[in-house]
Amino acid sequence: MANLIVVGSQWGDEGKGKIVDLLAKDANVIVRFQGGSNAGHTVITNKGTFIFHLVPSGILYRGKLCLLGNGVVVDPAGLIEELDGLVLKGIKLGRNLIMSHRAHLIMPYHKAIDRMAEQAKGARRIGTTGRGIGPAYVDKMARIGIRVGDLLNPDLFKKKLQENLVEVNSFLRHVYHIDGFHFDKIYEEYMTYAKRLKGYIGDVPLILQKAIEREQHILFEGAQGTHLDIDYGTYPYVTSSSACAGGACIGTGVGPTKIHGVLGVTKAYTTRVGGGPFPTELHDEIGKGFKTRGQEFGATTGRPRRCGWLDAVLLRHAVRVNGLTSLAVTKLDVLDGFRELKICHGYRYKGKLYKEVPSDLETLSNCTPVYEKLPGWSVDTTGLTSYKFLPTQAKRYLTRIEELSGCAIDMISTGSGRGDTIILRNPLTKQRQKRKSRSSC
Ligand code: GDP
Ligand code: IMO
Ligand code: MG
Repeated sequence: MANLIVVGSQWGDEGKGKIVDLLAKDANVIVRFQGGSNAGHTVITNKGTFIFHLVPSGILYRGKLCLLGNGVVVDPAGLIEELDGLVLKGIKLGRNLIMSHRAHLIMPYHKAIDRMAEQAKGARRIGTTGRGIGPAYVDKMARIGIRVGDLLNPDLFKKKLQENLVEVNSFLRHVYHIDGFHFDKIYEEYMTYAKRLKGYIGDVPLILQKAIEREQHILFEGAQGTHLDIDYGTYPYVTSSSACAGGACIGTGVGPTKIHGVLGVTKAYTTRVGGGPFPTELHDEIGKGFKTRGQEFGATTGRPRRCGWLDAVLLRHAVRVNGLTSLAVTKLDVLDGFRELKICHGYRYKGKLYKEVPSDLETLSNCTPVYEKLPGWSVDTTGLTSYKFLPTQAKRYLTRIEELSGCAIDMISTGSGRGDTIILRNPLTKQRQKRKSRSSC
């Protein structure tokens, strides 16, 4: 039995979907624990390209149970669209997908408030995905949220919606000077969703407990990334949930003593979508090269991602706050052909050297990255599945990532396809690939 949490170690889009899909082959249960349809997890198989927003990235295999934990915020319209898309591609859905009664619903007014609040912020805007994520978590914490389980109780749903709309409509009229929402329209719409989704609602902690008793493998699929976490990220330029490993316990109802490992997914360089500090961001040809070769456009919004060198300071922070037990490094192939590579290992601000991520935005936004240079490689690493075929310079780069982050690499991704991966040790099954010593080959 091994229960493994997979989290992003940067600002999201590290390739979690690809890694979770790959590991899901050996898992029994795959569970999302936070976030909502702000996530866009890409999985590419011989059946085509899939972009998952809410559905766990294990759904493509038969016989795997996919769950949405209580920590997730569910947009029912988005979920139904996603389910329809999967059915069209021949994926069988039924009792292989269950969402928690306790997960909160995203309501149309959450999306409106998200968009309006962003507009009002002007230059200080976060660059949210506009999916209503922040306002839905606000309602959850304010204890006025409407939960997935409420869809099964029309009277309760009606009462909560009526009460919420009084407040929401007054807020929208007075603060944003727009008309409010009509109760009847939302109520009818959500009761249609209830009919469609009622078969997918269940008691997720209980289901997970049974899986644990049967000694099954559980994969916890994180969304976003450590530096978008509400507590440990670059606040306020973050998302509104706990994207770190701790969120997996809160967001599913599984206790920390049942977790056996935490895999951090990191790109071989860094990207970010939306606003906020990014010390190693590149505005030159190299940054453009990452964007073009790495196809760095958001899977959810299509926005171009900001690109920069790998930041080991951010990575060390991720290792610490998640208790990472190993790393999966993705997109190594995107670095092919660069004569020289850089890794940031510290920041300098007002004459002071920072080896850890400063908690204040002012320092992080204005610091200068301190780099070490490493030689690049000219050979094509795309699709490599064996460590021994990597060029020496790539091995050196990977070893340096391990040294600077203080965390061992278990997986190296060399392409977007399911098979384009070097698995040194499977973090779920703990099986190792036979290989020559890493430093000698
Ligand atoms: P996620 O949100 O963490 O699941 O990541 P996204 O799916 O948003 O973004 C990762 C992108 O990189 C997707 O388009 C993947 O298909 C792609 N990708 C993942 N791993 C690799 C890799 O090793 N090499 C290349 N070239 N692309 C990759
Ligand atoms: P995955 O799971 C990258 C970013 C948004 C914005 C900030 C807040 O695919 O890695 P929100 O809509 O959550 O309130 O936006 O967080 N963001 C992501 N960036 N990948 C994601 O998810 C993201 N989800 C949210 O761009 O800066
Ligand atoms: Mg993504």
